[in-house]
Amino acid sequence: MKPVVFITRKLPDEVVVPLQEKFTVRMWKSESESVPRDVLLKEVADADALWSVIADQIDKEVFDAAKKLKVVSNLAVGFNNIDTEAAQSKGVIVTNTPGVLTNTTADLTFALLLATARKLIEAESELRKGNWKSWTPMDYTGMDVGGATIGIIGMGRIGEAVARRAMGFDMKVLYHNRSRKLEAEKAYGFEYKELDDLLIQSDFVVILAPFTPETKGLIGQRELELMKETSVLINVARGGIVDEEALYFALKNNQIWAAGLDVFEVEPVDPNHPLLTLPNVTVLPHIGSASIDTRIGMMNLNAYAIIDVLEGREPENRLV
Ligand code: GLV
Ligand code: GLV
Repeated sequence: MKPVVFITRKLPDEVVVPLQEKFTVRMWKSESESVPRDVLLKEVADADALWSVIADQIDKEVFDAAKKLKVVSNLAVGFNNIDTEAAQSKGVIVTNTPGVLTNTTADLTFALLLATARKLIEAESELRKGNWKSWTPMDYTGMDVGGATIGIIGMGRIGEAVARRAMGFDMKVLYHNRSRKLEAEKAYGFEYKELDDLLIQSDFVVILAPFTPETKGLIGQRELELMKETSVLINVARGGIVDEEALYFALKNNQIWAAGLDVFEVEPVDPNHPLLTLPNVTVLPHIGSASIDTRIGMMNLNAYAIIDVLEGREPENRLV
């Protein structure tokens, strides 16, 4: 019997065909809707490989339901949706898709930063509504990006790629990270700061840290109070790193100037979420890595990892 692969979303043929040539491949039928929990639990029971997306909670219950699972490959660099301890205790390999999405995600980070600072989305939608009556001196005026100070929380590959883009805008780059990045400090002049100092000094605070027990709620009321009244918060990492209630309060009371969010505590975010009622919030539906080439590149990494494990080789990008 051929090994069984279960894919939790409908994915393009070009990334699935290489698996179909070798294995029995079963795939959830929808591109846009998550696989129902009961279907996931049933499908995983006799699967040798599981190809998951961030909307799937691959927790202990899933690992307990799986009888012969060897690998979970997650279509993302983040893997907070997977209980890696449960995977390890069952001897299941977990892989992710770092590297290929670094520049694409850094581009989106900068696009969101610029859009938020310069009110692009608001201005565009007013034009479309027919509200461009004349040139006005102070409508849609925002914050300057060029020459400002950016503070990056989480200086991994994506953080560094954002920092290099910031240099092109003549920005001063501060960063906070679990470990110092001495080579990047030397090569580019990035400055390491304690979190509080970064928050106090930055015009743009950009979150690019992984979501872990240590970063959950990292930016709450106290941290937002440290930020400048003219500052902008950008989150392209995971929603749970920011306390959304505290952020709502800070934006509503103009403690900070604006926020650009690509991620939310609960996704998809409810269109009636209080944050979406505020004019100084720019929102996107978690599209950091969404370029055609990068998404296909991520999927190819998943497919190779599954083939490697099922054919007895060590996969790249192994987490546990
Ligand atoms: C997307 O959020 C990812 O982690 O790749
Ligand atoms: C992800 O690739 C990161 O290290 O930021």
